[in-house]
Amino acid sequence: MKFFVDTAEIDDIKELNALGIVDGVTTNPSLIAKSGRDILEVTKEICDIVDGPVSAEVVALKADDMIAEGRKLAKIAENIAIKVPLTWDGLKACKVLTGEGNMVNVTLCFSANQALLAAKVGATFISPFIGRLDDLNLDGMELIADIREIYDNYGYETEILAASIRSANHMSDCAKVGADVATAPPAVIRNMANHVLTDKGLDAFMKDAEKAGIKIV
Ligand code: G3P
Repeated sequence: MKFFVDTAEIDDIKELNALGIVDGVTTNPSLIAKSGRDILEVTKEICDIVDGPVSAEVVALKADDMIAEGRKLAKIAENIAIKVPLTWDGLKACKVLTGEGNMVNVTLCFSANQALLAAKVGATFISPFIGRLDDLNLDGMELIADIREIYDNYGYETEILAASIRSANHMSDCAKVGADVATAPPAVIRNMANHVLTDKGLDAFMKDAEKAGIKIV
């Protein structure tokens, strides 16, 4: 499974990218607003750091306006994936923008039917939001599994990009049900390294090393 990092914070992207675990980046208007940076400027900086797809989201609601914004975003760098919302206009924009050779990430997906439509219009990525479904006592992971089954039934090449990931367990669960990509905030990716038994075991090893006076360098 590919890991994308869901942030517009440059320091986090640099740190995770240097580890070689970042296959791409996703942003959205809320993350850009949080960064306090200009969208074109910060997105260009991210594209210069990361080789993989960098999703930049349109803010228009009408298809023609989304297409114009998407074309402008695509000029930032070759690795831009234009992000459009899963609305009827977003699907129209996806069809045109993918037809022009762009990567398109269709976002705000909350149902298998929406994912089916995104695949039909040639989306590069479909972004089902797990956490926001879980917030409503619905099963976000079940949606990922359903989309996997549907896409596999017909050989759709649209990649399932699991989004709205809130916990480390979401990451391994996404990998189990076959998401192609999971995008997570930096804190969630770092948290994947944590285990209470690792901390406990390390603490015991450190105490014993100190007692025995073990020195290596
Ligand atoms: O990738 C979409 C993500 O940023 C949304 O996450 O936690 O706001 O639902 P969240």
